[in-house]
Amino acid sequence: MRVGVLTGGGDCPGLNAAIRAIVRRGIDGHGHEILGFRDGWRGPLDDDWSELNVESTAGILPRGGTILGTSRTNPFKRDGGERIVRERLDTLALDGLIAIGGEDTLGAAARLHDEAGLPVLGVPKTIDNDLGATDMTFGFDTAVHVATEAIDRLHTTAESHNRILVVEVMGRHAGWIALHSGLAGGADAILVPERPFDVEKVCDLIRRRHSRGRYFSIVVVAEGAVPAEGTMQTLEGASDEFGHLRLGGIGQQLGPEIEERTGFETRVTVLGHVQRGGTPTAYDRVLATRLGVAASDAAQGGRWGVMPALRGSKIELVALRDAVSELRLVPPEEYEIAETFFG
Ligand code: F6P
Repeated sequence: MRVGVLTGGGDCPGLNAAIRAIVRRGIDGHGHEILGFRDGWRGPLDDDWSELNVESTAGILPRGGTILGTSRTNPFKRDGGERIVRERLDTLALDGLIAIGGEDTLGAAARLHDEAGLPVLGVPKTIDNDLGATDMTFGFDTAVHVATEAIDRLHTTAESHNRILVVEVMGRHAGWIALHSGLAGGADAILVPERPFDVEKVCDLIRRRHSRGRYFSIVVVAEGAVPAEGTMQTLEGASDEFGHLRLGGIGQQLGPEIEERTGFETRVTVLGHVQRGGTPTAYDRVLATRLGVAASDAAQGGRWGVMPALRGSKIELVALRDAVSELRLVPPEEYEIAETFFG
C-alpha cells in the first residue's frame, strides 16, 4: 500500500511524533510506502513531496514543529483544487492520504472524503484543544505547560513591583489554554471567549484583592476573549484562507483600560508562538504516537473518512465530519471552578 501524509494549519508540539508513528507502523507493521507532502494541502496541489522512511524520520520524536512543514492552504480556495488532489493521488499511485491537522485541515479532509469520495483520513492536533469528537488534541498539554511556566514567572515579578500583569494566550475561539494555564498558575481572573467579559467587573476583582492586601494581580486573557456588548471598544484583525480572523491584540487593549480604571500600574505580556514551539511534553508525544499508529492501522484497513480520537483513555475511530462539525468549547461548569479563585 502507498500512503501519503501531510501536516496542515498551525504547527504544534507532537506533530513529528505522529509522523514517526505513521512511518514506523506503516513500514514495519504493514509494509507501506509513505510519501510526505510539504506544507499541508499545498503539497498535493503543487506536487511537492518526498518519500519518508525509518532513516529520514529517526530522531524526530522529541522535536517540536513538523519536518513536513505546514501552511494554511485551503484546497477548496484553489481553482480545481479537489480535482488536482484526486489526480495527484492517482498519478502517485497512492491508496490514501492521512491529513494531520485541526479544524481547517480536517474540515478540508472531511469534504474531500464526503463530497469527492477521496480516500482521506485525519489525525487531530492543535494547541487549541477545540476539536469535537475527541477528548483532547496533542499540542495542548505542551502549550498549557509553557503558559503555566510563564504565569509562574510573571507572578514573582508582578508581586515584586505591585503590578497588574495581563497575560494573553492563544486558543482561537476556545478558552482551554487560558482556563487550564490560568487555573494551574493561580490567575486572579481568566477571560475566555465562551464568556464575554465586563472590564469593570475585572477591575472590581483587582480592587478587592487590593483591599485584602494583595497589591498585584495576574489576569489571563484568551486571544479570542471578547468584551460584553457596550462595555469596551475593540479592534478587528485580518482573515486567513479559511475565513478565520487572525486573533491577538485583546491583551494590549485590555491592559491600558484596566490601568485607567483602577489607577494601578498594568503591563501586558503576549505569549504568542512561544506556546506552539519547542519540545513536546511526554503526554503529547505519547498521545501523538498512539493516534499515528491508529491512523496507520485505519489506512491499512481501508477505513477512510475517519479520525482516531481519544475517548476516555482509549483511542477510537470517529467520523471526520463529527470532529469538525462543532467546536469543543469550555463548558460553563468548568469555568465556574476557575471563578472560585478569582479576585
Ligand atoms: O490554531 C492554533 C493557533 O496557534 C491559534 O491558537 C492562533 O490563533 C493561531 O494558530 C495563530 O496562527 P498563525 O501562526 O498563523 O498566526
